[in-house]
Amino acid sequence: MFHQPLTDTDQQALLRAARDVAGNAHAPYSGFHVGAAVLTEGGTVYRGCNVENASYGLTICAERAAIFSAVAGKGAANVRIRAIAVQTASGVPASPCGACRQVIYEFNPDALVLFQSEDGLESMTARELLPHGFGLD
Ligand code: THU
Repeated sequence: MFHQPLTDTDQQALLRAARDVAGNAHAPYSGFHVGAAVLTEGGTVYRGCNVENASYGLTICAERAAIFSAVAGKGAANVRIRAIAVQTASGVPASPCGACRQVIYEFNPDALVLFQSEDGLESMTARELLPHGFGLD
């Protein structure tokens, strides 16, 4: 499916969705609240936030929470990520961690990744964030 680049209005709407859901984060240990919003090529937006745990390693990042919600919502075969926005409530823009980069890559290496904080907005593709991402084909 061919898509025009996301308009600035669409980007702002996706970033707003990410900003809104960051308020739902469960981050009592780090105090670092992250929201993510996935826009699928079908046009649906799915959101996720980070959820921490007293057993720290069980924490899930906002990006993977949003992507897993998309898969649960419409079935993996129907999920191709057009763009994902990541918003942190404070501090530097949260460039997705390595694990999240690989999961974004799985659902479209050419997905646009936007990450924003009060310090600014960055934008690049999943492939740029994860050169030589892992694949089985
Ligand atoms: N976190 C995310 O949600 N996304 C990222 O891309 C990086 C880190 C979360 C995990 C943890 O709850 C907190 O930020 C601090 O690492």
